[in-house]
Parts: sequence; structure tokens; C-alpha cells
Amino acid sequence: MRIGILTGGGDAPGLNAAIRAVVLRATALGHETFGIGDGWAGLLGEAAPRVLVARDVAAILGEGGTILGTSRTDPRKDDASRRAVLDGIRRFRLDALVAVGGNDTLGVAQWLHEQGVAVVGVPKTVDNDLAETDFCIGFDTAVTVVADALDRLRTTASAHHRVVVVEAMGRDTGWVAAFGGLAGGADLVLVPEIRVTSDDVTRTVKRRRSLGDLDILVVVSEAAEIDGLEAQTAVDRDAFGHVRLDQRAIGAVLARHIEQRTGIEARQVVLGHLQRGGSPTAVDRLRATRFGNAAADLAIAGRSGVLPVQRGGRIEVATLADALHGPRALSDDIIELVRRFAGILD
Ligand code: F6P
Repeated sequence: MRIGILTGGGDAPGLNAAIRAVVLRATALGHETFGIGDGWAGLLGEAAPRVLVARDVAAILGEGGTILGTSRTDPRKDDASRRAVLDGIRRFRLDALVAVGGNDTLGVAQWLHEQGVAVVGVPKTVDNDLAETDFCIGFDTAVTVVADALDRLRTTASAHHRVVVVEAMGRDTGWVAAFGGLAGGADLVLVPEIRVTSDDVTRTVKRRRSLGDLDILVVVSEAAEIDGLEAQTAVDRDAFGHVRLDQRAIGAVLARHIEQRTGIEARQVVLGHLQRGGSPTAVDRLRATRFGNAAADLAIAGRSGVLPVQRGGRIEVATLADALHGPRALSDDIIELVRRFAGILD
């Protein structure tokens, strides 16, 4: 059979490892893999597809980005695009499609499944907010970037006796900020799942200083709401229609607030796309290999509307419909850990 594969949405470290696994597994079982460029745009005819053979994926396991390219194109946006994407699948003679992506990409995959196209998903998003899976491709690398940044920022914050506010990605959930903040020993982690006030924040910073902390590291999620503090207004939307959360500039707003209210010098760092760039960690390479391997098997077995997920260390199978019941908020145990190790002080 001919299995199409595409990567959609924001890129994430580990996408190439997943592509490699699908190609190698499908090839080993005598099937052809057809790489579609630039996400759903490729099925609309906007990027040239190509057959992928083992040689094409031989050296990509540790490479960031995606050899296929990606986009935030939503082919459901109008009748013409809806027809075009279904035409693309017929024109490329795809017997099945593997869509590697997060909520947006897999939402389109579910729609195609409902149209009778055989589609298997692969969970990818640094935000880690898909339902049904404990972890998604890219998350571990993003967390590692946040933790490494905190290690570096600790020394300069300490030298200058400063507060440093680090803004992390994560869309509407706090997975990246919480895991990265806990792994990097942040003094305060602010996530959408834990509502705090601007007074809570300044009180905590002052209290930490009075306890002898000369350097204070604060991690804030790009979408965190802090009562009493106005983030900037995000005016633009991405191609899929999501508000550009970076434009809220919550890290800058928070650093200014802390400096003005506590008198302690504060700086801010937006980690931004550093969290998505570069080589995947070993965990992401392995996770992507397990997911890609399972996705190829599911596609070859004729399954559709499903995706491999990770639950408690095991790879299992969930439906796309269930995985899309997100965004999956931080679990209660992680919220409790944040409160205990990087929470608001009285
Ligand atoms: O969904 C992944 C993500 O990295 C979010 O954390 C972030 O809000 C967004 O994508 C940024 O997207 P872009 O690459 O369009 O700036």
C-alpha cells in the first residue's frame, strides 16, 4: 500500500524521528511511504510530494525541524479547500495517511476520517496538551531547554541579585512551564491552571528576598492570567486562527510589575522558539520512534481515526475523537508539586 505522511502545526523536535520510524517500518513490511510537504498545504497542491525511501531518513533521527516542512493551513476553511484536500488524497493515490501533529492537525485528521479517508495520527506538540496521552513528541526537549535556561539564568541573576522572569510556551496549559520550572528549580512558576493575583507574586518575591534569596527565578506560561495585571493585547492570529500569545508579552509585563512593586531589579527572557528548535532529546527520539512504529503498524492494519498514545510507559491506542477532548490541563499531582516547590508564599 501507499502511505502518505505529513507533519502539521508548529514544528517540534522529534518530528524527523517519527518520519524515520514510519518510513523504515513501512518499508520493512513492503509498503511505500509518500512524503507530503508543508502539512495540509501539501495536499492542496502547494508543495511537491515525494516517495521516501530508507536512504532519505538515514541521517535524520537527531535533526530538529521536519524534512517535510509544516504549516498551520486548515483545509476545512472553505468548500474549495475541503474538495481540494480530498482530491489531493485521490490524486496521490494514498491508501492511508499518517498525520503527525497536535490538536489542530489531528482535528483535520479526524474530519478526514469522518469523510472516509483512512487516517492515523501521531501525537506531537511541545505544549503536551493532547488528551489521552501522557506525553507528546517535542515536550521533553522543550522542557529540557527551559531547565537549561534556568541553570544559566541562575548564575547571572545571582551575580546581580536580580529577579529574572522566564516566559515559556505552552498555549493554554502550563505543562512546559511547570515541568521546565520544576526541573530547573524555579522559585515561582505561574501557569494558567493556578490562578494568582499580582499581589501574590510581589509578596512572594519580597518574602523570598527576606528569607535570603538573592537570585529569584520566575517562570510564567505565555497564557497565564494574573489578576490585577493587564497583559498586552494580542492583535494577530496565526494561519489556523489562534491568537498570537507571544504578543501578550506577559513576561515583560510581569518583570516590570515586580521591579516597580518590590524595588528589586528585574529582567525578562522570552524563550520562544528556542523551545522548539534544535536536536531532540533521547527521550523524544525514542518516544517518536515508538509512536512512528506503532502508527505505521496501525495504518498497515487498515485502522483509521486512531493514534498511538503513551500511558504509564506503555504505547497504547486511542481514538482521535477522544484525543481531541483537550486541551488537557496540568494534572492535579503536578499542580500540587508546583504549589509546594514553586508556589505563592504567605
Ligand atoms: O503549539 C505550539 C506553540 O509552540 C505554542 O506553544 C505557541 O503559542 C505557538 O506554537 C507559537 O506558534 P508560532 O510558531 O506560530 O509562533
